Amino acid sequence: MRTTLGQAEQTFVIGTGTAHTVLSVEDLFGHRINYLRISVTDRCNERCAYCLPDEVQTWAGREETLTDDEIVRLTAAGARLGISKIRVTGGEPLTRPGVVDLIGRLKTCPGIRQIGLSSNGTLLARSHGGGTLAEALRRAGVDALNLSLDSLDRETYARTTGRDFLPRFLDGLRAAQQAGFASIRLNCVLMRGTNEHELWDLVEFAREQGCLIRFIELMPVSSRHVLTEENFLSVGEARRLLEFRLGPLTPLPDFKTLGPATYFAVPTTDQRIGFIGAMTNLHFCESCNKLRLTADGKLRPCLGSHLEFDFRHALRGPATSDADLERLFLEVVARKPREHEFRDNYQPQRRMIAIGG
Ligand code: 5AD
Ligand code: SF4
Repeated sequence: MRTTLGQAEQTFVIGTGTAHTVLSVEDLFGHRINYLRISVTDRCNERCAYCLPDEVQTWAGREETLTDDEIVRLTAAGARLGISKIRVTGGEPLTRPGVVDLIGRLKTCPGIRQIGLSSNGTLLARSHGGGTLAEALRRAGVDALNLSLDSLDRETYARTTGRDFLPRFLDGLRAAQQAGFASIRLNCVLMRGTNEHELWDLVEFAREQGCLIRFIELMPVSSRHVLTEENFLSVGEARRLLEFRLGPLTPLPDFKTLGPATYFAVPTTDQRIGFIGAMTNLHFCESCNKLRLTADGKLRPCLGSHLEFDFRHALRGPATSDADLERLFLEVVARKPREHEFRDNYQPQRRMIAIGG
């Protein structure tokens, strides 16, 4: 079936799902959209310089933030169009009251097969319902965790995140391991002059902990002066720095996870290292499969583009049917750009925390 919406065209491919028919949606450039990142809050208990540099913030008000029912309804609409994987993000998603119940509801949306959570990890060891928050999340159906870790040095961690929370992170990681998460990935943002001399220690730490580590290039999603010539460290350079210690890393072109990382094997071990080169990898956007929902209800077809579409008003409009939501959703897919604009003198208008990391 082919249909035309606005200026663009989608192909709906009818496939077979587990319990029901699954549609899959492609944009104009052949990106097959099956992944929705949902920011459930713009708030955070940390203040990473590259994400949310100022201590004083204006947060979205309660009224502006989507409710659980609204998020579930929009996710269900997306799932009917082929979304099968969800990542819950923030801000720090675990600061949202009731987030465990929300995740439990998202997991039971027909068509949703996998739920990942991106977190700074510092709240995972908190007690929740007789156990830890990590255990509750596991029970609610979170399949995979991505935890931010930019430094193992307490002072550097405190400087980059604005909080002296490295011990809480380590407690959180332990709680996640004890809760039985099989897939824990560590995300490390590369910053020259901050963590470039620690990359090997971070790789070693990941190996000891049985986690997959990914190094991420700094993107211009916070205030403009955060990304400069001086503090940018490319994934290529990070790889060369690691190779001084580890020996030549072997590319693993066939090893893929959900996102745009490319993976390499460490010689003589079974460890893999991921690199997310949003700025220097010219093929970065080719396999993009995602849309992003902001905490205040905007659906964004791309992190590095100013395009966003207001679903909050649609969700709150008394006359909006599920079919209307699906049509709007497809219009966003139709407007997904070929690639991000980060290399094109992009000026952020929203902070990362408001978009969802
Ligand atoms: N550049 C690159 N990665 C970022 N993140 C947040 N802000 C930036 C940025 N400006 C990453 C964090 C976290 C994830 C949610 O997003 O490292 O792991
Ligand atoms: Fe919080 Fe994550 Fe942003 Fe750091 S990167 S301020 S932990 S949302």
